[in-house]
Amino acid sequence: MKLEQSFMDFMLHHQERHGRTYNFLVLLEAVQTAAKYIQYFYQTGSLKDIMCEAGFTNVQGESVMEMDDIANAIVLHYLRRSNQVIHAVTEEEADPVVLNEEGGRYFFYFDPLDGSSNIKHNLPVGFMYAVGKRNMDGPETYRLRKGSELRAAGIYLIPNGVFTLALADTGVFRFHMDETMTYVIPENSERLIIPEDRGEWELSFNASNRKTFSRKVQDWIEENEAEFNFRYMGSLAGDFHRLISNGGMFMYPAIINHPRPDKNRPNGKLRLLYEANVAAFIAREAGGAAIDENGNDILDIEPESPHQRTALYVGSRGMVENIGKRLRSG
Ligand code: AHG
Ligand code: MN
Ligand code: MN
Repeated sequence: MKLEQSFMDFMLHHQERHGRTYNFLVLLEAVQTAAKYIQYFYQTGSLKDIMCEAGFTNVQGESVMEMDDIANAIVLHYLRRSNQVIHAVTEEEADPVVLNEEGGRYFFYFDPLDGSSNIKHNLPVGFMYAVGKRNMDGPETYRLRKGSELRAAGIYLIPNGVFTLALADTGVFRFHMDETMTYVIPENSERLIIPEDRGEWELSFNASNRKTFSRKVQDWIEENEAEFNFRYMGSLAGDFHRLISNGGMFMYPAIINHPRPDKNRPNGKLRLLYEANVAAFIAREAGGAAIDENGNDILDIEPESPHQRTALYVGSRGMVENIGKRLRSG
């Protein structure tokens, strides 16, 4: 009889090896429970008629899907019950949600469902999150944590049942949902490393925006595109997931040359705290890199507001450094 190693068993031993408390496990257990409920609602959503628009917009002015709203409520519920979280920043709420300001140890940043345009087609979406830690040695300032201070970041691919977790200074690990809805790590699986060889390299960006990018970025694409396969599913969670195994780069550059200037997005589209940082942190732990439109490391950006946006270039280190040189050039 072959028994797989469960996610919790893996984490328990990890925490013990590093002499850490179990508080982090309590948090991750809550997160995992939330992910399973999101999975359940997503898989059966068409039968419940919930794969539609909710009828209102969020703080970002984007139309909210019913599933965005359901996933957000699920995550907040289990975070609150865990007692481990001080504040949670979610894509769906204007201000950080105070959960346990006195006793919580962690800050939690999340996008409950990433890739909303996929929802009505039942295509893959992601639940993305990052975890920061309170100052245990002195007074807590409650400031938003920058990427380099995060302790963990994860992406649940839904409804595929694949979970990727990056732990600070430790690496990236992947878990698969088994028949009992337990996430397990396959035997002999190793730390994930984003490949640097150009074998199956992929380039992932919204090609309909191509002419709206800066001249530097447009030139770089023209000079380099022949080397890549183009892949784009419209969900950072899914697109980035492919790159971790195949290598290459996902990018959402600044939009500065749109024929309708009101459609320009000089700061890009993706949100720093719960999209760009999640991918950037996982990339770093897998040997890759992530930069913004100025060629600076995403993980060094000091957050100023919960929903601030940034351009994002993330993937294999050599490739990100290559376009970074171009972005930094005069
Ligand atoms: P969300 O569904 O959480 O609002 O995020 C969507 C984001 C991201 O996942 C994706 O990579 C990008 O938006 C797609 O944008 P375009 O439709 O402009 O390509
Ligand atoms: Mn998103
Ligand atoms: Mn979302």
